[in-house]
Amino acid sequence: MFDIKNIVRANILAMKPYSSARDEFKGEASIFIDANENNLGSLAADQSFNRYPDPYQHKLKEKIAPIKGVSPDQIFLGNGSDEAIDLLIRLVCKPGSDEILTFSPTYGMYDVSANLNDVVLRQISLDQNFQIQRNKLQGQIRTNTKIIFLCSPNNPTGNLLDSDSISYILENFKGLVVIDEAYIDFAEQPSWTTRLAEFPNLVVMQTFSKAWGLAALRLGMAFASPAIINYLNKIKPPYNINQATQLLALEAINQSEKLGGMVAEIKNERFYLQANLPKVPVVKKVYPSAANFLLVEVTDANKIYEYLLSNGIVVRNRTTQPGCFNCLRLSIGTSIENKELIQVLEAYSG
Ligand SMILES: Cc1ncc(COP(=O)(O)O)c(C=O)c1O
Repeated sequence: MFDIKNIVRANILAMKPYSSARDEFKGEASIFIDANENNLGSLAADQSFNRYPDPYQHKLKEKIAPIKGVSPDQIFLGNGSDEAIDLLIRLVCKPGSDEILTFSPTYGMYDVSANLNDVVLRQISLDQNFQIQRNKLQGQIRTNTKIIFLCSPNNPTGNLLDSDSISYILENFKGLVVIDEAYIDFAEQPSWTTRLAEFPNLVVMQTFSKAWGLAALRLGMAFASPAIINYLNKIKPPYNINQATQLLALEAINQSEKLGGMVAEIKNERFYLQANLPKVPVVKKVYPSAANFLLVEVTDANKIYEYLLSNGIVVRNRTTQPGCFNCLRLSIGTSIENKELIQVLEAYSG
């Protein structure tokens, strides 16, 4: 039976976490002079900003929990999901000896965080449909492999990873399986959060940066067993989610009835581009997408990247990524932006 305690680094098990003023006193009082704040007030418009924020974001988690179908103690909030990636690696991977596994091409931060923590990153190539090749797993999983990162829908390819392969990994791998669902709101498939009770080694990551339109606030989520969440809370910086972010995210959640409409509009625009890009002569292939971007193979990615830039359109050139030769990654824009993109591409005379 998986027990997170068995893979948490020994120094973290033994470590005493930082105890903040807000950890040590949580009750009501008339004079707060315990945190060296400025009791005269704040130079910002919101006078509450002179106080440190709730280190565990209770109000926010209570609002997120019913939306995601989990309990508040199954939620970790990070300064972007990038913070959760880094903390998960630090939690279980010993620098200089442990490893993580990813499937390429995929999101670049797993590699960066592994490097930063002196952890080896092993990569298995996805197949030509950007799916997991199960027969390649065995040779790449070692006793010191602590985390497998799966990105679904995958960045930069846009597709969902096959559920059977994910289940197979969850059932057979002894370490943590992290499913990064940054783009899940644009997919037709339910989140893996619905399977948390079945898999004690599962961590699902989502973010407010994509469908919610809050990339600037830096708010990412990790969902897992309360035991895993407790360890993430133990090692996180004390006030990792600032007060402005907590307040603005609550404001956004209070308007969550608008989320579906926005996602539907982005999906409609995706359908528009999926239907119209293949008619453009320089476009060779548009890969299927369950995200808010498209991976598009063109005749010459480097030239077309420069050409688009000279027309004021910046896309992501992914041609050097494994399996993505001559591919550009295009985020879904507004209706006007998408029409302009098609017009500019059609005018390319290379
Ligand atoms: C797959 C994936 N995960 C995570 C992130 C980062 O999300 P956040 O803004 O929450 O750090 C991105 C951002 O592009 C992403 O593509």
